[in-house]
Amino acid sequence: MVNTLIIVGGQWGDEGKGKIVDYLTEKADLIVRYAGGNNAGHTVVVGDQTYKFHLIPSGIIHKDKLNIIGNGTVIDPDVLVKEIEDLEKMGYNIDDTKLMLSSSAHTILQKHKDEDNPETNANSKKIGTTGRGIGPCYKDKIVRTGLRIGEYTHSGTRAAKKLNPLVRDTYIIINDALKKQKKVLFEGAQATLLDIDHGTYPFVTSSNPTAGGALTGSGVGPTNIDSVIGIFKAYITRVGGGPFATELGTEQETKNEESILDLKKELSEEAMSRLKRKNIKRANEGNEYSQGRLLRIQGYEYGTTTGRPRRTGWFDVVAARYAVAINGLSSMVMTKLDVLQNLKEINVCVAYEIDGKKVVNFPLDIKKLAKARPIYETLPGWDEAISKVKSFNDLPKNARRYVERLEELCESPISIVSVGPKRSQTMVLDNSTLF
Ligand code: GDP
Ligand code: IMO
Ligand code: MG
Repeated sequence: MVNTLIIVGGQWGDEGKGKIVDYLTEKADLIVRYAGGNNAGHTVVVGDQTYKFHLIPSGIIHKDKLNIIGNGTVIDPDVLVKEIEDLEKMGYNIDDTKLMLSSSAHTILQKHKDEDNPETNANSKKIGTTGRGIGPCYKDKIVRTGLRIGEYTHSGTRAAKKLNPLVRDTYIIINDALKKQKKVLFEGAQATLLDIDHGTYPFVTSSNPTAGGALTGSGVGPTNIDSVIGIFKAYITRVGGGPFATELGTEQETKNEESILDLKKELSEEAMSRLKRKNIKRANEGNEYSQGRLLRIQGYEYGTTTGRPRRTGWFDVVAARYAVAINGLSSMVMTKLDVLQNLKEINVCVAYEIDGKKVVNFPLDIKKLAKARPIYETLPGWDEAISKVKSFNDLPKNARRYVERLEELCESPISIVSVGPKRSQTMVLDNSTLF
């Protein structure tokens, strides 16, 4: 039986962790966010309502659950207060029966945000940070000059007063829940390839989003963990800079594109569907940039706050197998399978070619990774819309084949397939690694 389950991002983020955490929260008692800060944006769609969470665990909209922001996180007090107040305006009563903050999470201060401004800090610009002060705050934590939330909330500011009643030594509550055999869900932010130790350094964030981070970031031991689930899109995307072996089109071509906000302003629905048809045609003629653009349009791959286009590419098995290994994944979840519609052929990268040699293990040397050329296996696509399909056996044959082939190549079972943003667009293939 699974009582404790860690959710990690398997790629470069935005895989749909928020959706899957919300889905699994139904059976959980306690949800713990263990790393990162408001660089994260987790989307949950319930009915007609869309929620975007940056710090508060995505379990909060299930009204009877306790959500904890763990010690491994960095908290911008003003952002958290706004998130709480937005929920309160929607009728949620956020008190310490719903939300607790670890006293030893660290505080993002104005100086951290000033330091992380990509307009004035060349390193933040190169990495393409979110500019939220994440790196500088973790830096202060590591050199032992940071301010913990337990201390900050005695400072008397408006935000401090609002947050103070929520602060606890949360390890006690989490370990107590474990003793009582309650179901605890650990919610990861960011993703494996953005991990400070295991990601594509220096193009990474400043925390450990991988499974180990769930332990240090919440105060539980490894013997308590029953299952680790990695979330993967059926393709891959990246925000910000850094090497990207399976990228379709170049980073610059994507940057040059208009934001979705402009696209929506300028184009009628009719013009938008013409643009989509044009890219379907070109994508199926083999134009790589159009293949990437089609994934962007169909997958709505645009930043949540800025509307900037995300870099897109084919599923990378080399990177996925790496994520399976270093997180010790019990199973994978595949999201956004619906986005691959309209492609005659779908590529998956099964190995890299680096300096004329075939490489099957993810290289940690960033210079090598930057030289990696993808070696593809090509699978047949499908034209049918699948977002209303409820069971795996009702998917088009080629969609089933795609999922099954990725299970084989990644050497990991796939427990859930997601075909749309809503809770109802979720198929459980095998629940032995789930609650
Ligand atoms: P997270 O950061 O991993 O929580 O992911 P985000 O919320 O940043 O990005 C995922 C986006 O894809 C959100 O807009 C979700 O609503 C959406 N989404 C999640 N699963 C699916 C899916 O299976 N199909 C489609 N089309 N969209 C999905
Ligand atoms: P979720 O949880 C996608 C990326 C940034 C940048 C790099 C470092 O929604 O999946 P930082 O501000 O952390 O110093 O930026 O990491 N990044 C993310 N990309 N999804 C995220 O979170 C991300 N959090 C950080 O774009 O390249
Ligand atoms: Mg996100």
